[in-house]
Amino acid sequence: MNNKVPTGIEGLDELMDGGFLRGKNIVISGVPGSGKTLFCVDFLYRGVKYNDEPGVYVTLEESPESIIENMMGFGIDLKSMISKKKIALVDANPLRGETIITTTGVHTGFVEFKAYGLSELIRQKVREVGAKRVAIDSLTSLLMHYKDNFERRLEIARLLIGISGLNCTTLITTELHSFLVDPKFLTEHFIADGVIILDMMQVGGRMVRGIQVQKLRGVKHDFDFHLYHITDKGIVVFPKEKVYNP
Ligand SMILES: Nc1ncnc2c1ncn2[C@@H]1O[C@H](COP(=O)(O)OP(=O)(O)OP(=O)(O)O)[C@@H](O)[C@H]1O
Ligand SMILES: [Mg+2]
Repeated sequence: MNNKVPTGIEGLDELMDGGFLRGKNIVISGVPGSGKTLFCVDFLYRGVKYNDEPGVYVTLEESPESIIENMMGFGIDLKSMISKKKIALVDANPLRGETIITTTGVHTGFVEFKAYGLSELIRQKVREVGAKRVAIDSLTSLLMHYKDNFERRLEIARLLIGISGLNCTTLITTELHSFLVDPKFLTEHFIADGVIILDMMQVGGRMVRGIQVQKLRGVKHDFDFHLYHITDKGIVVFPKEKVYNP
């Protein structure tokens, strides 16, 4: 079996020799509004449509209704994939409250989400739809309970260990330049198998979007910042156009 998992995002796979490696976890780290959610949803949607790979999407912040509505703007019909049980959209925002089942019982309503409960929930949903792809959006929401870098690192490790063995290619979003995170301690970037950066930069007096494959263990990849656009059809990367990140 081919162990490459194409993202299908226009122009991106050629920067990384065809795609991600199967079963690995990749951090999608971006500034606000850079397309992190779109990247994840598109990855799962295309997985179903072109690769026959069902997916699980876990939202820790934006509501499922808002995601479904916003993605319609890109021609992504999440609702139909959900009703066909090809994608499970899981609301894990502790402030909204979802019923989850962990080894300590069934919890409804406010649950202080920790990596352990979250990985239990993901495992359960992966089994339900036979998922091969997972997206967790965003890790920053999970980590905001922890001020201490050591605790943060432990929690990320618990999450990754909790979902390892599922053999799902997993995207995990994080906020770049977040005031919650000291950039010196972007622990998740070190722990993950791969890191994609979605940034915004000033070039010739205008703001442009730049994407970088910063790290992908086991893959020969490009590491320049390339221009990308968000269009009606989703993210479009221009692999021949480099942008400078100051
Ligand atoms: N039809 C469209 N055409 C072009 N750009 C669009 C369109 N619809 C939305 N956008 C852009 O996409 C961005 C939203 O993408 P998305 O929600 O995936 O970003 P995000 O990085 O997840 O944001 P957040 O930091 O709020 O979670 C908007 O801020 C807007 O700039
Ligand atoms: Mg988002």
